[in-house]
Amino acid sequence: MDHDMSRKPRDQQHKSCRSRALVLLIAVATNTAIFLLFSDTSSAIGIRSGEHGFFWKSTKLSFRDINITEYALAASRDELLHLHDRLATASSLVVTLLGINDTSSDMAAARDEQKHAGADGLWQPELTGELRLAVGPHKLPLGFTKNLGSDQLFPAVGQACRRFPDELERYMNYKPGGECPSDEQFSQRLMLKGCEPLPRRRCRTRSPAGYAEPTPLPASLWSMPPDTSIMWDAYTCKNYSCLANRSKTKGFYDCKDCFDLLNGREKGRWTRDDGALSYSIDAVLATKPNGTVRIGLDIGGGSGTFAARMQERGVTVVTTSMNFDGPFNSFIASRGLVPMHLSIANRLPFFDGTLDIVHSMHVLSHWIPDVMLEFALFDIYRVLRPGGLFWLDHFFCLGTQMNTTYVPMFNQIGFNKVRWNARRKLDRGIKMNEWYLSALLEKPTT
Ligand SMILES: *[C@@H]1O[C@H](CO)[C@@H](O)[C@H](O)[C@H]1NC(C)=O
Ligand SMILES: *[C@@H]1O[C@H](CO)[C@@H](O)[C@H](O)[C@H]1NC(C)=O
Ligand SMILES: *[C@@H]1O[C@H](CO)[C@@H](O)[C@H](O)[C@H]1NC(C)=O
Ligand SMILES: *[C@@H]1O[C@H](CO)[C@@H](O)[C@H](O)[C@H]1NC(C)=O
Ligand SMILES: *[C@@H]1O[C@H](CO)[C@@H](O)[C@H](O)[C@H]1NC(C)=O
Ligand SMILES: *[C@@H]1O[C@H](CO)[C@@H](O)[C@H](O)[C@H]1NC(C)=O
Repeated sequence: MDHDMSRKPRDQQHKSCRSRALVLLIAVATNTAIFLLFSDTSSAIGIRSGEHGFFWKSTKLSFRDINITEYALAASRDELLHLHDRLATASSLVVTLLGINDTSSDMAAARDEQKHAGADGLWQPELTGELRLAVGPHKLPLGFTKNLGSDQLFPAVGQACRRFPDELERYMNYKPGGECPSDEQFSQRLMLKGCEPLPRRRCRTRSPAGYAEPTPLPASLWSMPPDTSIMWDAYTCKNYSCLANRSKTKGFYDCKDCFDLLNGREKGRWTRDDGALSYSIDAVLATKPNGTVRIGLDIGGGSGTFAARMQERGVTVVTTSMNFDGPFNSFIASRGLVPMHLSIANRLPFFDGTLDIVHSMHVLSHWIPDVMLEFALFDIYRVLRPGGLFWLDHFFCLGTQMNTTYVPMFNQIGFNKVRWNARRKLDRGIKMNEWYLSALLEKPTT
């Protein structure tokens, strides 16, 4: 997931931006609640959010202390948006580096600023047509304003959407009331860049010709769907037989063999417990009173097999998946399971303390930046009910990171350890020093 896919000038600024993070560190460390933002014109701009001023000079940079109003008028829209993004990244970095406990004043300032940039419509007067309608705001009817504390309603749109005005424009370019463009991969890439959720559209998605009714449950759990059940435009494979046979073809694919429900490894997953990294579903369910694990979530659940096995045991599991190189969401749905098209960057759309179990295999791993991983883990803790289980399945990292980064990170979330197995990963040789961790963690009841 590349969050730096913006235009060139920003990339060029990146280095100097990082080197100046030190200044930001100092600002936060002295609790002045001041943010320093740097523009590409080698001038530093301080935005003041308290009574105190903060001044910094160097031979290269001239410092101007100006207020937000002036700044908004002076800076180009694009530049300002980039600065906001940098502010968000830099402040979370600082929080992590310093382990700062009380960052409420910093966060409040950032939120306040975002409100100015987004909600008050810095970019909106320039929007036209469907995009303008889709992102709002829209006036509420009289009588409804009291409950919401506002007289207008803002549709939910990912904040990073604003960084990609051209792509957003293209996404919203269609005939209202007509057929939606075939732009599944394009839309998904936009989501991955942080434009999640995407704005809603007023068009109709196409249906495949010769659509066949789904296979009834429970046979649907282990049946290959008819090829005519989906549109194949977005994929290299043009039928399910091709997808199921991907493990025999060359090339890198996400979840390479997980579409093969008939012959491959998929059939056996989570049915045997090896007493080490691979837990069985039955062993995990047996840690709780019979029947008390009823609803759950599988994060990055591939073709839905975890949910299928759970369904056979009376547990309803929602599976999040992106459609990388394959129609994962449609495939899960065809099995009679609930797919959710959600990236790992998104806050889980469940209320606090509601789920009995959260499972994740492979996707939560060291490729996720540490700060984001930590936020994701706390989010999992949030949605689990007291006594709920988090099954971290084959978390992958380098041996050098295991005890220094990840064990302390997992420990501080606050789970009880029910099971914990770390093992060296040997498939690429002993030299690689790669490790797996599987753990069954329980949210405390008190
Ligand atoms: C910010 O700048 C504007 C425009 O120059 C000015 O009218 C306003 O009084 C200033 N606000 C503060 C708090 O300094
Ligand atoms: C955060 O605050 C708590 C108590 O308020 C303290 O025990 C803990 O050490 C602090 N953590 C950091 C990283 O400063
Ligand atoms: C499935 O698609 C592949 C190419 O993607 C093609 O070679 C093959 O003949 C197709 N099979 C069926 C059964 O349609
Ligand atoms: C994989 O391809 C073979 C033919 O090459 C076909 O017989 C088989 O059914 C395919 N597998 C699936 C699960 O469709
Ligand atoms: C759990 O409860 C169900 C329904 O009451 C029962 O059929 C099943 O045998 C029980 N399983 C165990 C392991 O006790
Ligand atoms: C982490 O620490 C434990 C206990 O000290 C040790 O057994 C294990 O080998 C260490 N793991 C790695 C990957 O270094």
